[in-house]
Amino acid sequence: MKSKDIREKFIKFFTLNGHERFNSSSLVPDDETLLFTTAGMVQLVPYLLREKDIDFKRVCSTQKSFRTSDIENVGNDGRHLTFFEMLGSWSFGDYYKEEAIELAFDLLTKEFKLPKDKLWVTIFKGNKNIPRDSESYIHWQKLGFSSNRIIELEEDNFWGPTSEEGPCGPSTEIYYDQGNSVCNKDMYSCCKNNKCIPGCDCDRYLEIWNAGVFMEYFKNSSGVFSKLPFTNVDTGAGLERLSMVLQNKTSVFETDLFSSIIDIIRNDSSNFNINSANLVADHIKAIVFLVLDGVLPSNEHRGYILRRITRRLFYNITILGYQDNLCLNLVEEVLSIYEGIYFEKSDRNSNLEKVLKVIKEEDIIYSNTVLKGIKNLEKLIDKGKISGEDLFKLHDTYGLNIDMSKDILLSRGLDFDEKGFNDKMKQQQERSRMNSSFSLGKSVEKDFSEYPKTEFLGYDILSLMGAEVLYAEENDGEIIFILNKTTFYAEGGGQIGDSGKVMGNNLEVAVSNVKKTKLGVYLHFGKLLKGKMKEGDIVNCYVDKGKRENTSFNHTAVHLLNKAMKIVLGDTVSQKGAFIDSDRIRFDFNLDRALSSEEIEKIEDIVNENISKNENIQILEKNFDEVKKMGIDLAFEDRYDKTVKLRVVKIGDFSIELCGGTHFGNTGKIGKFKIVKQESASKGIRRIRAILEK
Ligand code: ALA
Repeated sequence: MKSKDIREKFIKFFTLNGHERFNSSSLVPDDETLLFTTAGMVQLVPYLLREKDIDFKRVCSTQKSFRTSDIENVGNDGRHLTFFEMLGSWSFGDYYKEEAIELAFDLLTKEFKLPKDKLWVTIFKGNKNIPRDSESYIHWQKLGFSSNRIIELEEDNFWGPTSEEGPCGPSTEIYYDQGNSVCNKDMYSCCKNNKCIPGCDCDRYLEIWNAGVFMEYFKNSSGVFSKLPFTNVDTGAGLERLSMVLQNKTSVFETDLFSSIIDIIRNDSSNFNINSANLVADHIKAIVFLVLDGVLPSNEHRGYILRRITRRLFYNITILGYQDNLCLNLVEEVLSIYEGIYFEKSDRNSNLEKVLKVIKEEDIIYSNTVLKGIKNLEKLIDKGKISGEDLFKLHDTYGLNIDMSKDILLSRGLDFDEKGFNDKMKQQQERSRMNSSFSLGKSVEKDFSEYPKTEFLGYDILSLMGAEVLYAEENDGEIIFILNKTTFYAEGGGQIGDSGKVMGNNLEVAVSNVKKTKLGVYLHFGKLLKGKMKEGDIVNCYVDKGKRENTSFNHTAVHLLNKAMKIVLGDTVSQKGAFIDSDRIRFDFNLDRALSSEEIEKIEDIVNENISKNENIQILEKNFDEVKKMGIDLAFEDRYDKTVKLRVVKIGDFSIELCGGTHFGNTGKIGKFKIVKQESASKGIRRIRAILEK
């Protein structure tokens, strides 16, 4: 059966059984704290939690998914992938264990006609938090599974949450017995034990369907479980593995979802080997899908993963002696396999162009820098044993990331001294942590109390000429310095410190952060790009305008949010902490329950309404008594110095707060406010993560 027919049959079966079809969501989830869409349930979390209302009680989908957890296995066996399609079905408080198990069993045995005697199942064994899943056991027994074919596992049969906290539950999975014959195949590791059963690490039993995660629990970020108000079912079957079984293959790479890609690689390689070919076939698919969902290579977060797999692909292309290093034919083939499913034929050329542009740019970096690191690593390999320190040097000096070194060492069957590397890395992090807590070199324990309070002019201007250096200390290019006056905002009030440049005569420093001592001395942290800095130098300050502007917009949004929260949830709710940078807002407040979707919507609406009113932001200087009269919340009255003027930030007639942060202009241009996630921060404290969409 063709993979296309399997996909269609799955959807047809569930729609005939009353399930509404949902389209696949992007590989980039709405939840900023989750790297990628790893399962069909990711887009459905708000419904599982009832944070959003849903018109349907039964849903099914085919979902593009990407998992980094198996990246090191890709190419080494026939069943692990990074990008895959998950066929899934859900019940939101509708049917539960019995029907979920029956549906899965019927689809596999009646529609797909898999022989029942090849199927094994697993159920949750129970642990100290969650009881054994005896109901599923009974339901499988009723369908004719004898107790020796119902295996009880612990960790493997508990699924979720996908991020720090969320819905989760015990699961029941279906395995397909490939028989002992796979043990003789290349790439297969077999324990060769006659008593081998599912749960064994060997390749004989293939998990084909997580036939039901019974989501009745919510696990919070402190690891505490509570019951969800409804019992839900979440299932997921990998299309690639199902195709493998239904097409009588012993590797996903032999199915019609991969075979044409492997053929192209085979034809154009001078040194073909199946492991590298499989890896390239998996990674090129992942690259196409990630790029077309808007991910670009970078050194962090999602971009880092894309960069990592692109480099693994380049490395394996070299091993294969594959001719087309920009992968034109491979990208075209991936697009054509998924045409009419995830891509439109009419977009073929523009999609091709987008993906090739990324590959080309990455290839330039790879050829110019990473290859140098690889060559050095190869020299070390020739010499013999490689220590963690060597790996650290390759990382630190040649930019050869540790994942790449690890891939290369493991692919040659060599040891990888992860501990040695991590120790060196920790030492470096410790050094930089010390730096950022004011303790570079001889300034350890220094409190800088002998320096005058820094004059901060950065509320009104971002650049400043003629500041005097009062203190500077450098160590290996890292520098801390104090100026008599500055335009750099020092981190405080939840807002991050500014970055930018400080320039002088034959001197250039990239400032990465600024902190303030208790006595108001501003410590600038940065890297010396040119020259030397010493006491008495006269310098100019240039704050990074874009970053400051976006950070200020986010700070203004936090004030609007704080007020909107009180309107929606009452005056007892107040801000308990915040983190504001140029991209994100994190806002903590006291509440001992999750916000409902209506409350979130209301809060967003109030904030956005006030943004669109184009409210003026006024900064007022008032003394303590005046502030009290204005009715501003002075939660910690005794903390304020009553002899100095306090800074009041007033947004139209809507919000008024004491604040030392930066705000400017009016609310009109800050962007559209959106809450992207809520979670618990600690007992009784909720956390919202939000962004401003431009
Ligand atoms: N969400 C479950 C899984 O991915 C079904 O296995």
